[in-house]
Amino acid sequence: MPALIAPSILSADLTRLGQQIQAAVDAGGDWVHIDVMDGHFVPNLTLGTAIVAAARAATDHFLDVHLMVNHPEPLLKAFARAGANLISVHVEATPHIHRALQQIHALGCQAGVALNPGTPAEAVFPVLHLADVVLVMSVNPGFAGQAFLPEVLPKVKRLRERLNTVNPQARLEIDGGINAQTLPAAQEAGADVFVAASAIFRHPQGIAYGIRALRQASHGG
Ligand code: DX5
Ligand code: ZN
Repeated sequence: MPALIAPSILSADLTRLGQQIQAAVDAGGDWVHIDVMDGHFVPNLTLGTAIVAAARAATDHFLDVHLMVNHPEPLLKAFARAGANLISVHVEATPHIHRALQQIHALGCQAGVALNPGTPAEAVFPVLHLADVVLVMSVNPGFAGQAFLPEVLPKVKRLRERLNTVNPQARLEIDGGINAQTLPAAQEAGADVFVAASAIFRHPQGIAYGIRALRQASHGG
C-alpha cells in the first residue's frame, strides 16, 4: 500500500489554520490529522468539533479525527456532522468498542481503533474486521513533540500480520514521534500511514520541507 502522510494540526499555527492546512495539502500531505483531547483520557485539552468544521471549510481533503476522549460515543455524531471522514476511538476509552465502531460506520464515516503504547495488540484483535484503520500510538498520547518509542515496533508487525489475514484492506497508522529518522523502521514493521505534527509544522525549514523529508524517508510513497 502506498505510504500516506498525515500532518497533525496540533502543532500548526491556529491563528492561520486555513493557510497552514493549505500549505500541508499543497506540499503533498494526504490526510489532515486532528487530535481531540478531553483532559481526562489524556492530560491535555485540545481541539474539538469547531476546529474540525473549520478544517472542513478550508479543504476537501480527507479529515482524520483522532479522539483521545473517554466514552466517545455521545460525541461521534457531532464529529461526523462537522465533516470528519475517519473517526478513530481508543480501545482503552470505552468498554463497548464494537458498538463505537459500528456507530461511526452508521454515521457514514470510516472507523479507526487506536491503542496506546502500553496496550497489547491482542486488545484490538476482536474488532480488526470492523476497522478501516488501526492507529498505533508510538508515544503516550497527550502532547506533540515527544520521543518515538521503538518498543511499539513488534506490535506494529503483529498487527500487520494479523490484518493481512483478517482485513488486508485496513490501513495501519502510526502516531507519535514520527520524523525522517523514525519513519523507516515504522514502515518496515508494517505501518502505512504516518502522522506527524512537529516534524511538519515545526520543521525549521517549513511545512513543505517537512513533508518532503518524510516522503523521501518512505519507500513506495
Ligand atoms: C499525540 C497526538 C499526536 C501528536 C503527534 O498525543 O495523538 O497526533 O500530534 O505529534 P508529534 O508528531 O510531534 O509526535
Ligand atoms: Zn493523533
